[in-house]
Amino acid sequence: MISTRFTERFELEAPIASAPMAFAAGGELAAAVSAAGGLGLIGGAYGDPAFLENAFRAAGNTAVGCGFITWRLSENRALLTAALSHQPCAMMLSFGDPAPYRDEIAAAGVPLICQVQTMAHVDDAMTAGADVIVAQGSEAGGHGATRATMTLVPEVRDAIGEDVILLAAGGIADGRGLAAALALGADGVLMGSRFWAAREALTHPRHQAVAVEADGDATIRQRAADIARGYDWPKPFTARVLNNAFVQRWEGRAAEHAAVAEAERPAYGEALARGDPDEAAVFVGEATGIIRDIASAGEIIARTVAEAEAVIRRSAALLR
Ligand SMILES: Cc1cc2nc3c(=O)[nH]c(=O)nc-3n(C[C@H](O)[C@H](O)[C@H](O)COP(=O)(O)O)c2cc1C
Repeated sequence: MISTRFTERFELEAPIASAPMAFAAGGELAAAVSAAGGLGLIGGAYGDPAFLENAFRAAGNTAVGCGFITWRLSENRALLTAALSHQPCAMMLSFGDPAPYRDEIAAAGVPLICQVQTMAHVDDAMTAGADVIVAQGSEAGGHGATRATMTLVPEVRDAIGEDVILLAAGGIADGRGLAAALALGADGVLMGSRFWAAREALTHPRHQAVAVEADGDATIRQRAADIARGYDWPKPFTARVLNNAFVQRWEGRAAEHAAVAEAERPAYGEALARGDPDEAAVFVGEATGIIRDIASAGEIIARTVAEAEAVIRRSAALLR
């Protein structure tokens, strides 16, 4: 067993959280992660009240947390109140200043997790009184920015001191990554792509199938998927997806794409619904190159911890 401040504070058996992934992290995935000893987070994402209620219902009595895309929350503040009414074991905010929401989260007695991509975001998270900071490197699947996990994590640790729990995210999908994150000063990891490829995820099986075959060169950070869906993401965020035919057709042609995106939205939605791996964006990170199977969340956690323990033992044996 690997024991850290993160496992102690949240009473976990594994220092692993699952990311609150839009359209992939429903109640089944979050509950499976929590049941296996990790911290499972529902993806509240862009703010669909029906999805959120279903997800908490699906999680049942298992303690799970929830996460929102912060810049969208301002358009749908009631959703935060609704999520907090379920007494989640954590509330994660990413992609925007958490300040407007901190008091309500604190008043509910729910720990606040802030995901950061830059040192300026770290300041915002500390000012908001974050209990946990997730330092997300650019390797990550989905939205993020440009810093690499390898330098961001230790720099964030130096900036926040030892009192705040730190998780590493971006490119971590096995025990080697967990052991490396601990070595960089993190108290645990938040994994997205690896759980996106879990059996309990809401991911389309065709998307999972291409990701299992793809190597880590196959992804790209881009904006085309947001233009296609009509999401007006603020700078500096872009999203990492597989570099498929859809992305190659539109990336770098934002103005032309925006001009036709509304008319093409139904076709894009249909491609997404049928899991077409070429004609809609497949959200996964560079870790796709080390994800080689679709496993249950419980298996993923057990394997990741066992492998990290072996890596830590081997590393200790290097000492003379
Ligand atoms: C399919 C997918 C959807 C994501 N959606 C969200 C989201 O809605 N909110 C969020 O905070 N992070 C989201 N992320 C990013 C994760 O929080 C996390 O930082 C990332 O997955 C970590 O990198 P990894 O994918 O290499 O594990 C998403 C990631 C993926 C792969």
